[in-house]
Amino acid sequence: MLKVAVIGMGNIGNTHAPIYKADPLAELVAVCDIIPERADKAAARYGARAYYSVEEMLKHEQLDAVSVSTAGVENGGDHFTPVMQCLEAGLNVLGEKPISNDIVKARQMVAKAKEKGVYFGINLNHRFVPPAARAQKWIQEGKLGDLLLINMTMWINNPNETSPWFHLRALHPHSLDIMRFFCGDVRRVHAFLNRAPGRVCFSNAQINLEFENGVVGHLTGSYDAQPRHNLERCEVMGAKGRFVLDNLYEELTLYPKDSDELTVIRNSIMGGLSGFSATFTNRIHRWLEQISAEVPDEELEASGREGLAVQEIIEAAIRSHESGQAETVPVP
Ligand SMILES: NC(=O)c1ccc[n+]([C@@H]2O[C@H](COP(=O)([O-])OP(=O)(O)OC[C@H]3O[C@@H](n4cnc5c(N)ncnc54)[C@H](O)[C@@H]3O)[C@@H](O)[C@H]2O)c1
Repeated sequence: MLKVAVIGMGNIGNTHAPIYKADPLAELVAVCDIIPERADKAAARYGARAYYSVEEMLKHEQLDAVSVSTAGVENGGDHFTPVMQCLEAGLNVLGEKPISNDIVKARQMVAKAKEKGVYFGINLNHRFVPPAARAQKWIQEGKLGDLLLINMTMWINNPNETSPWFHLRALHPHSLDIMRFFCGDVRRVHAFLNRAPGRVCFSNAQINLEFENGVVGHLTGSYDAQPRHNLERCEVMGAKGRFVLDNLYEELTLYPKDSDELTVIRNSIMGGLSGFSATFTNRIHRWLEQISAEVPDEELEASGREGLAVQEIIEAAIRSHESGQAETVPVP
């Protein structure tokens, strides 16, 4: 059983902690927040020891792994310091998305994990749902034939503001991860962005993508959606068929090219995903399974390298908005 701790006991730290508590592969021994009341409250709730600094926690605890669920500027500005402290101490780290709002720091974290020979994962939880796994299997089995095209839509309502790039950097690690999950690395992007009236961030995005394998894709993103009508939809077309994955895990449909018969998989009320929080449960369990099994580093799912890859796409999209040109994406 792995001894784990959670750093950053806000809303998301308090989502990770009970999942570790309930998972048979983990023992939640400590929680840490620089706001003492948050650490104390979480410690009492989960029966763990409270710390107010990562340094103190590392001094007193023998840990195998940590979740770092800090936030900061663009929801990623505070991740670097605690992640680097834990990697330096030889711990396996599951970071929250975005890996960082600063691409240089994101690259440094991935390099540090490699140097220390530890696992570094990112909570790209949207891909950890049974219909996404099934859709990926359809691709591998050749049900779609050669892949040609992908469309992704992710619209949520988020009125918060931190910077012009908040919407791109904080939300679209998720959508771009789903696109990479199905179609692989991205070679070039061309982005058009606008702001809803009164907004600081570019809250709407239309981004064209060209993948390394020749697939052409499009991402529509928004922070201005109607709150009760968030939307997450992914459609992949190949030479022999296409699928549509609606609302993350609600419904997956396969449309074969040469038949009127569709395959439809609905999230069952009997044993299907109970809600969005189940994506965290699945993701964290997979993280625990993979590090317990000591899988080869390159097999780690939703790794730091993949978290960096989506951030590189986002930075290239920002460059494209500024230059008006398609921009090349560095592949980590
Ligand atoms: N994967 C998802 O679906 C998903 C959904 C929402 C948010 N998130 C991400 O989760 C992260 C956390 O979001 P939140 O809403 O819980 O943020 P939050 O601001 O409510 O909580 C962050 C906590 O981290 C603490 N903290 C900051 N620096 C620290 C340090 N060095 N050591 C210890 N504690 C420290 C803060 O005091 C705060 O209590 C963000 O990166 C966000 O992007 C992920």
